[in-house]
Amino acid sequence: MNLYPKSKSGLSTGLALILSIFLISLYSSQNGKILLYKNPELFMENRVEELLKRMTLEEKITLLSGKGFETNPVERLGIPSIRMCDGPVGVRWDKSTCFPSSIGMAASWDTELISRIGWAIAREVKAKGRHMLLGPCININRVPMGGRNFESFGEDPYLTSRLTVSYVKIVQEQGVIATPKHYACNNQEWERHSINVKVDERALREIYLPAFQSAVEEGRAWSIMAAYNKVNGFHCTENNHLLNDILKNEWGFEGFVVSDWGATHSTINAANFGLDLEMPERIYFGEDLLKAVKSVEVKESIIDDKVRRILRVMFLVGLFDGKSNLDRGALDTKEHREIALQAAREGVVLLKNERKILPINIEKMKSIAVIGPNAAINRHGGGGSSAVSPFYSISPLEGLKKKIGNDVEINYSLGCKLEDEISPKELFIDAVTTAKKSDMVIIFTGLSNQFESEGFDRKDLNLPECQNELIEKISEVNKNVVVVLNTGSPVLMNRWIDKVSAVVEAWYPGQEGGNAIADILFGYYNPSGKLPVAFPLRWEDCPAYLTYPGKDGETSYSEGIFVGYRYFDKKNIKTLFPFGHGLSYTTVEYNNIEIFPDAISDDEVVNVKIDLKNSGKIEGAEVVQLYIRDVESSVERPFKELKGFKKVNLKPGETKTISFTLERKAISFYDEIRKDWVAEPGEFEVLIGSSSQDIRLKGKFVLK
Ligand code: BGC
Repeated sequence: MNLYPKSKSGLSTGLALILSIFLISLYSSQNGKILLYKNPELFMENRVEELLKRMTLEEKITLLSGKGFETNPVERLGIPSIRMCDGPVGVRWDKSTCFPSSIGMAASWDTELISRIGWAIAREVKAKGRHMLLGPCININRVPMGGRNFESFGEDPYLTSRLTVSYVKIVQEQGVIATPKHYACNNQEWERHSINVKVDERALREIYLPAFQSAVEEGRAWSIMAAYNKVNGFHCTENNHLLNDILKNEWGFEGFVVSDWGATHSTINAANFGLDLEMPERIYFGEDLLKAVKSVEVKESIIDDKVRRILRVMFLVGLFDGKSNLDRGALDTKEHREIALQAAREGVVLLKNERKILPINIEKMKSIAVIGPNAAINRHGGGGSSAVSPFYSISPLEGLKKKIGNDVEINYSLGCKLEDEISPKELFIDAVTTAKKSDMVIIFTGLSNQFESEGFDRKDLNLPECQNELIEKISEVNKNVVVVLNTGSPVLMNRWIDKVSAVVEAWYPGQEGGNAIADILFGYYNPSGKLPVAFPLRWEDCPAYLTYPGKDGETSYSEGIFVGYRYFDKKNIKTLFPFGHGLSYTTVEYNNIEIFPDAISDDEVVNVKIDLKNSGKIEGAEVVQLYIRDVESSVERPFKELKGFKKVNLKPGETKTISFTLERKAISFYDEIRKDWVAEPGEFEVLIGSSSQDIRLKGKFVLK
């Protein structure tokens, strides 16, 4: 498998090899002092071997751990450190551009946008003089209360995989190491350092691993971060099945496995079972590893393999060639700011819009009340290692004032503080008075980095009580209420959903949040975001309800592959808002499905075409979603599974033909007995729609 370019100079492999041999003999015979591995013209693998053979065992082991956010250098041979920084929504290294939380990026369903974000982040990594980005975070949202749900791309493995590939590819094209994390099944923060996740092989392969597999096989990730938790009895940093069997042997991963910070728990097992780099300090991969090699409990060939992996990536980044220093990247540019704004706009999901109250027609409004704890503060991101410190951060109140402040009277009231369980009387009263005297009310509510962060899960799915009360009371005195949410995961809305006219999910929208929200509310931008995760009606309805958070240090993923909409479909459970849902200010028509050929043999592909028409009056984008249903199968399969999507922009009246190609993988399941992906002959249904519950067109084909 060709995971990496074979020659930095772009020569064909054969030619590069001949040239390398020639140069090696020339250099070694004429001048023993010239360090061959420093010659950028040589074949990369030769440079790695050349350097490796000069290293003492102690030096090799030095390279296998780091301090803080750097690998240990080997000064005698001029091996520098790989310098790292956190992602995945911006660079966590002093100030940098803050992009929307990953769940907001995912809500855009726009792989091209993800590439632009990744490009900007990689440029900023370089501007900070770092080489490696600790992201993207690609764990599946299994538990709706998961503290880090905001940091990843939602509940669906296919959507997560496509976004991951775009992210990883572009970051590495800039010469920055991407580090998809946390491998694997790091789906809750509760007891995250020790919890043992019991998961069957099929759920692993179909739900929790596909994004990592795509990151390696398609994105060619140079590094993968092993998670804190255990999977089926073994810590992820010493999990032979995950690291050696699957990642390295089956998928052909040639980069290095880095531990999450403090996730290493042993010397011999971690070394033998696949960990390459211990971070953030040398505990197990120091003296003890040296001893283990001397006593042959860890073979030196295993150490060599780890060193090769790290050196290989160093060469790819250009660390020996001064390349990282040549291109210094860029920080906080106009272009990066524009990408942050566009990303925030595209991620906003219009959940409900009764009486077409949105977009707000300012010609009909004299006064607007702006109320709530998230109005005057921009909740740009969640908490923990992904928290970015932006150069500026636009609050919704600021964004609104800039956009319409001269045309409409804006009456602001706090209402209650974000964390209040019971709202103080005076603030309350003030908000109601403000709502009464205004033509309409926008309530900015939700959560923040205090509620959603690395290290702990949310305690339940409710908004803080004061905010539920605030919405209820305000909607008693004003009939035109719009609720704007900042959350990184679902919240329950049963108390007030029928009393308000519109609900907008803005996630944690990054530094441009206020501007993007104002653009959406006043129709300067037509919303096109779609939910990357279903919003349940009750926690009791969710697949993880019976097993979360676990008992005696263990949690069983007994729902298997039935995560998110796969579970709601199976149990016929109604959700508050389904996976893939999101409204627009325009309307679209789906017409003319064509599927050809209608019968295929094993290695043939199926083509699907539909016509998509903007039947409304304004320009807008629609995310066309393609789901597959295996009509008859020897094993239980989900009622439908996302296997394609396209975001399409249309002018009013415009029609575009949208095509999809379905490969065998799209109709396969993981067969635990055969230990392989299997597509069974028979009929498959193609379901095309605007959400997982709004299927507009159907068709069929047969696998012969
Ligand atoms: C987090 C990682 C992060 C690392 C370094 C850990 O606690 O789980 O996602 O990259 O810290 O900050």
